[in-house]
Amino acid sequence: MLFDTHAHLDSHKFDSDRDEVIERALAAGVDTIVNIGFNRETIPTTMALTEKYPFIYAAVGWHPTDAVDMKLEEDLAWIERLCTTHPKVVAIGEIGLDYYWDTSPKDVQQTVFREQIRLARRIGKPIVIHNRDAHEDIVKLLKEERASEVGGIMHCFSGSWETAQICLDMNFHISFGGPVTFKNARVPKEVLERVPLDRLLIETDAPYLTPHPHRGKRNESAYVRLVAETAAEIKGVSLEEIAKITGDNARRCFGITR
Ligand code: NI
Repeated sequence: MLFDTHAHLDSHKFDSDRDEVIERALAAGVDTIVNIGFNRETIPTTMALTEKYPFIYAAVGWHPTDAVDMKLEEDLAWIERLCTTHPKVVAIGEIGLDYYWDTSPKDVQQTVFREQIRLARRIGKPIVIHNRDAHEDIVKLLKEERASEVGGIMHCFSGSWETAQICLDMNFHISFGGPVTFKNARVPKEVLERVPLDRLLIETDAPYLTPHPHRGKRNESAYVRLVAETAAEIKGVSLEEIAKITGDNARRCFGITR
């Protein structure tokens, strides 16, 4: 069975057919999904999904592009409360740095990122990392804040093998999404080939980052199967094996026992 470690099924892009999208995921062999609530709007909608569907879990955190909207103390307390009182909240995320969109100043992003790593260490939750054009500062802050004590996931990893190694050394899993299925994705395919099987994860980031051959259309959790097929091919194992291995890794990382 397949485990989609990163989805946004609460997105308004699914408002007209969400139940069918989730049905298609189950039909494609997906048995667990972690939905990501990353700001004031999407944390409640993510929690609602976890209450409706037994196989949907939540990660909650504050996204770097929304960092300016965070009321630091109040919203950290909200995230902490959800993490410590709701059994289906399995991680803090997605958190990190995004130097591509200039919606939040770098220093604000860094403060919000640091505070959430500190919270994760305090309450013992893994973290889900969003990194866009910020490899150096991501590694620097993860080191300075001793993120290796909790580890977690480098979501839709797009960096070099050198960066991947540093993240592996800090206790992180490397997760691949749709972009690794693209024909010209030389570096992601090389990194996937070298990531140890016991640290490999797969995801969709649905509705974004749609894999080949649906590139350009809306992504959905059923397509995690296409990512799994690419990973199986690169690793030289069967689809069933890659599904089992990445599923076991995800359950271990998130502390899910079902
Ligand atoms: Ni995401």
